[in-house]
Amino acid sequence: MFEKILNKIRQIYKTEEFIPLHAPVFFGNEKKYLNECIYTTFVSYVGKFVELFEKNICDYTGAKYAVATVNGTTALQIALQLAGVDAENEVITQPLTFVATVNAIKHANSNPIFIDVDIDTAGLSPEKLTAFLKNKTKQVDNKCININTNKQIKACVPVHTFGFPCRIDDIVEICNKHNIIVIEDAAESLGSFYKEKHTGTFGAAGILSFNGNKTLTTGGGGMILTDSEEFAKKAKHLTTTGKIPHKWEFNHDVVAYNGCLPEKTS
Ligand SMILES: Cc1ncc(COP(=O)(O)O)c(C=O)c1O
Repeated sequence: MFEKILNKIRQIYKTEEFIPLHAPVFFGNEKKYLNECIYTTFVSYVGKFVELFEKNICDYTGAKYAVATVNGTTALQIALQLAGVDAENEVITQPLTFVATVNAIKHANSNPIFIDVDIDTAGLSPEKLTAFLKNKTKQVDNKCININTNKQIKACVPVHTFGFPCRIDDIVEICNKHNIIVIEDAAESLGSFYKEKHTGTFGAAGILSFNGNKTLTTGGGGMILTDSEEFAKKAKHLTTTGKIPHKWEFNHDVVAYNGCLPEKTS
């Protein structure tokens, strides 16, 4: 099967050489904006470009809020933290994904529960999810408890694999019924809509990646999408070292990240 796919791709590209998954093309105002950024000396995360980028992503995806991050993995780590994921609970995800999805779950000191994907979407299967929740979990005080580990299942991270939307509306409905928060890994799916709604805007939060192999690249970068003002404010605070805004004092009220996207890349 794999050989067949590979041969088909080689036929299309007419080469036996290395074929990149994606090679970025730069044909717009990239150099002009980069020069402008260097000229102003605002190359870190204070300046107009990050804010503009966040606004443009909101306009395009329909998300109420977008918070730029240094990469998609950080976006996912922060989104999981906002959902309350920690060592006391577990996170459902799919085995067919890039390692970053699971790294983010492990960085939250949590553990993944792998639910299989559907063959036609390559995304988390609503049927397999339902079967798992029915047979392996119980509801206690509006919490979904894994019968095997006795831990709460706090979140579910479905992936829109290679930009192909999973059955996200069904997944959100199932998770809502079981008191599980959905964080969509839309790292690979900027530009993909499901039932006319952009991927990454169905769950409590979604994340995008702007790595060099993604639909749109900033070299490295990510974004948290959410309709929750509270999530967005906390996400911004966590990406900017938890610093309480002040002209000269450095007070930080939470252990946070230097996780904001720099101006020079946005
Ligand atoms: C499915 C998936 N999740 C998360 C990530 C992490 O994004 P980043 O590389 O920007 O950290 C990627 C991309 O690399 C990805 O493909």
